[in-house]
Amino acid sequence: MKFNLGKFQPGRLTLLPVFIGQSGEQFGLNLNDYHGKKKDHPVWFDQDGTRFVVVGLGQQDKFEPNKLRDAVAFGARAAIKEAKQDITVLLPEGTNVSEAELVHTVVEGYVLGQYRFEKYRKQETNTVETITVAKQSGELKGHEDVITKAQVYAEGNNVSRDLKNEPSNKLRPYDLAEYVQNLFKDTDATVEVIKGDDLVKNQMNGLLAVGKGSVHPPAMIKVTYQTDASLPLTALVGKGLTFDSGGISLKVGTRDLSNMRMDMGGSGAVIGAMYILTRLQAKANVVMLVPTAENMPDANSMLPGEVIEYPNGVNVQVGNTDAEGRLVLADALILADKLGAARVVDIATLTGACLMALGTKLAGVWGEDTMVDGLKKSAAFTGEKIWHMPLVEEYEEYLYSPIAHTKNITDYPYAGAISAALFLRKFTGENQKWAHLDIAGPMDVNKTHTYSNEGATGFGARLLADWVLNA
Ligand code: BES
Ligand code: ZN
Ligand code: ZN
Repeated sequence: MKFNLGKFQPGRLTLLPVFIGQSGEQFGLNLNDYHGKKKDHPVWFDQDGTRFVVVGLGQQDKFEPNKLRDAVAFGARAAIKEAKQDITVLLPEGTNVSEAELVHTVVEGYVLGQYRFEKYRKQETNTVETITVAKQSGELKGHEDVITKAQVYAEGNNVSRDLKNEPSNKLRPYDLAEYVQNLFKDTDATVEVIKGDDLVKNQMNGLLAVGKGSVHPPAMIKVTYQTDASLPLTALVGKGLTFDSGGISLKVGTRDLSNMRMDMGGSGAVIGAMYILTRLQAKANVVMLVPTAENMPDANSMLPGEVIEYPNGVNVQVGNTDAEGRLVLADALILADKLGAARVVDIATLTGACLMALGTKLAGVWGEDTMVDGLKKSAAFTGEKIWHMPLVEEYEEYLYSPIAHTKNITDYPYAGAISAALFLRKFTGENQKWAHLDIAGPMDVNKTHTYSNEGATGFGARLLADWVLNA
């Protein structure tokens, strides 16, 4: 797939995004409000030898770039089925968004919209080699860098989707580690995998406890990317549970647990982000940490009630083995501090409670204000919605344990996402800036109604890369 900049060329298949009220008369079209309304109902027109695919952006004064992402994704999915040659995608007219951002959004919408996970159900698809991004009038120039960046952003996002969609029997913790080793082989990043006895030596006691019940052992994956050592070290930490059955506290009453293969979604996000940073050869000082394990019930499993002693001095009583993500993230947060990370963001499919609170469109974000502000800025750019949630000090007592410093769950059926964030905070460094993203909600979609096709969304990869690049 190659993107060019150019101008409208009669005779070419052309994707035209329009607002309500736009008639398309400069192309000889006579559009009505219907055509401007529906992003998910592309309408075809043959006009003066040009085949147009018209997609709606809704009301002009309510425009946000995500509507363009969606419209281009839907339009391109339709167009590509019939494309016999290259296609042109036109930018919308009359927005208050910069031309560069529109170009970025169009390229992302196109690449993200084309994504399908077809490893286990191959389908015949038409491919279009060259896509020209153009203006509705005049020539579009000077955005070559924008195109490269947007394409890499989308690719990083799709790396994350590939990993999350992969079934657990094909992606065990060591497979994830091997994937990461291959992904960063010929880059400026270095990969280290801590496993076996080294986990014991390094007192990765969360991973050892959570991983005990599985025949597929746990690991800590570490990727270091230091192209500018003068920058303060940033740590990106992603939960990497290749499957979460709940362990001894087995998940019951759920008919279909297949999406728990995506419990490595946080790791997908940070791996995708590192893909973006390394491919763009960004100036950065980043370490990525992925604690990866499989949470299974077994005679050797971690038991409810057992105590895990962490090397930072915090002893945790396990109330429920299904609250395993925070136990392995604790190892990574301790390591991030040991490595001297000045700021750390962790991202995890952490709690069903966050999904209940914010639904499937929003991730929750907790943490220090400047961190949250920076993340919000990047989220506005990438169109991944995050909502600032509070660290309520009073709820610390929800995590009370009668025998250890803390429990890994709250005893109450409320504030599950907040108490999880409070738990994680216990493992961050004193002088460290920290933020936590709970992506249980936007982890996947079950229908193709946006630029995300059915399945994993890859939420967080673009967001975190953009944050590292700009904050
Ligand atoms: N991986 C789950 C959270 C999750 C749920 C992610 C649904 C995506 C969709 C996590 O490990 C978990 O099981 N959390 C429990 C915690 C509880 C036992 C305190 C939950 O949210 O129910
Ligand atoms: Zn769990
Ligand atoms: Zn989990």
